[in-house]
Amino acid sequence: MKQIHLSELNVSSFSLFNYQWCLIGVAKHKVNAMTASWGSIGTLWNRPIATIYVRPTRYTHELLEKDDHFTLSFFSQQHRPVLNYLGSISGRDRDKIKECGIPYHIENGALYFEQADLIIKCKKIMVQPLDGKNIEDDIKRKMYPNGDIHTMIIGEVEEVWIK
Ligand SMILES: Cc1cc2nc3c(=O)[nH]c(=O)nc-3n(C[C@H](O)[C@H](O)[C@H](O)COP(=O)(O)O)c2cc1C
Repeated sequence: MKQIHLSELNVSSFSLFNYQWCLIGVAKHKVNAMTASWGSIGTLWNRPIATIYVRPTRYTHELLEKDDHFTLSFFSQQHRPVLNYLGSISGRDRDKIKECGIPYHIENGALYFEQADLIIKCKKIMVQPLDGKNIEDDIKRKMYPNGDIHTMIIGEVEEVWIK
């Protein structure tokens, strides 16, 4: 993979998350990753940012609380089976990354999946549990029947890598 400047990145924030999916990866306390299809990239506080939404029940949520960095690795459709696997099993009690055999390396405490088309490395700059009181009733009923409301996590983009 080669590192590019942010200005060279030419993607749609909509299709990136909703259609391509990504793995949110952490490596500081334990190597783990979970599939995510909700998120966006953009600008805040004059900084390039990526925003992700993680339910508190995910093991990755616990690890993200303790980590300063995370990576977002976006894959082509051929890797859907792996992303489905990592998005349906928790790494809390097992090493699911090893089990599925997806190649990776760790650099400066960040997790890089070598088969990804795009990797965005972020420094965590804000963690904010969403407040159910402020969510439209219809969405709340459909998305949160168990009250497991997402935490919004904002990362400042530090590195962009493409295949
Ligand atoms: C396509 C897809 C998209 C997902 N998107 C999200 C998401 O944006 N936020 C979230 O909290 N969970 C999402 N999940 C569920 C987690 O990936 C799943 O619960 C995972 O097993 C959590 O792993 P962990 O317990 O090791 O963190 C998604 C799952 C799939 C298959």
